[in-house]
Amino acid sequence: MSFGAISAPAVRSLSHGAKEANCWMDTGEGGLSPYHIEGGCDIIMQMGTAKYGMRDSDGKFSPEKVKELSHYVKAFEIKLSQGAKPGKGGVLPGGKVTEEISRIRGIPAGQDSISPNRHRDIANMDDLLDKVAYIRELTGRPVGVKTAIGGWEFVNDLCDTVLRRGREYAPDFLAIDGGEGGSGAAPQTLMDHMALPIAEALPRVVDSLIQADLKGRIRVVAAGKLVTSARAAWALCVGADFVNTARGFMFSLGCIQALRCHQNTCPTGVTTHNRRLQRGLVVEEKYLRVANYARNMNKEIDMIAHSCGCRHGRELKREHVRIVQTANQSIALNMLYPYPAAGSRAAAKQATANAAA
Ligand SMILES: Cc1cc2nc3c(=O)[nH]c(=O)nc-3n(C[C@H](O)[C@H](O)[C@H](O)COP(=O)(O)O)c2cc1C
Repeated sequence: MSFGAISAPAVRSLSHGAKEANCWMDTGEGGLSPYHIEGGCDIIMQMGTAKYGMRDSDGKFSPEKVKELSHYVKAFEIKLSQGAKPGKGGVLPGGKVTEEISRIRGIPAGQDSISPNRHRDIANMDDLLDKVAYIRELTGRPVGVKTAIGGWEFVNDLCDTVLRRGREYAPDFLAIDGGEGGSGAAPQTLMDHMALPIAEALPRVVDSLIQADLKGRIRVVAAGKLVTSARAAWALCVGADFVNTARGFMFSLGCIQALRCHQNTCPTGVTTHNRRLQRGLVVEEKYLRVANYARNMNKEIDMIAHSCGCRHGRELKREHVRIVQTANQSIALNMLYPYPAAGSRAAAKQATANAAA
């Protein structure tokens, strides 16, 4: 979540809490603030379509700024879309663009700030992989891609392009956001109806990577209401390597779902820049709750894994899950989504290339 969508005390609590629990924090698209760095946790810096924090005076990608940022962050993430508003971009209302936010993002204060619905310098999969390789080369940091999923073309195209060009062009991770994802502000129609739910998107993305023999090369991060240990464990069973959550951590900060994120009047101080409303969000107390949430999620995921006979969460597999369907009948997840043959797509592509040669 960006600094801008959420407040300074919220970002500070998350930064300190993440350090305490030894987990990472993603900046969201709003640039890197001193509050992200303050706690000393590992940071993933997101590059959104507006290139906030990494843009020149014309709003274009600035290699100098990205190189400078690489001293503070552990990885970069190119955001194509998020589950709450795929294809839409975003608006930070002028009321939330304070002097400080304008400095961090590189935009004028007090004016609505628009992030376009696409990266102007990325028009197709080759462009995307070029950008991944370029930022990785420039910064020496891993580079991933975040996207919501609307069908199978995207991930298949990504796999085919990596197979054609070479594994050195692969993104280091894919962060998959389910259609149930949250946002500071988005049209209700997109929030409610667009992008596949994570329950359908995740297994199919994982399967495509297995078929292309890229599952070991491209790490998979999943999000979309995976806020309880059981839901996060489900994602690990399906094939995610990691789980992200935004709203899980908002709850740990005291979010009461007042639904005013876009109005700058959040009564709990989580999404407002009004100092008076922020007074209830006491960093010295809240960072411990953030840390407790992360630690207990991990502890309970391992407990679920032990209960399945695994040594830890990373050994969880599809056969450990049963999905309850109508009339309380359940079906094994590995029957619903059978593991595909590893490398089958890669082999088929190779055979076609050989035949053509
Ligand atoms: C207040 C808020 C701000 C967010 N800002 C961003 C953002 O800047 N970039 C992004 O990729 N996703 C953003 N998201 C989406 C989350 O990162 C996440 O992908 C989504 O909410 C699914 O996770 P969850 O169900 O655990 O909240 C935001 C979500 C919320 C609730």
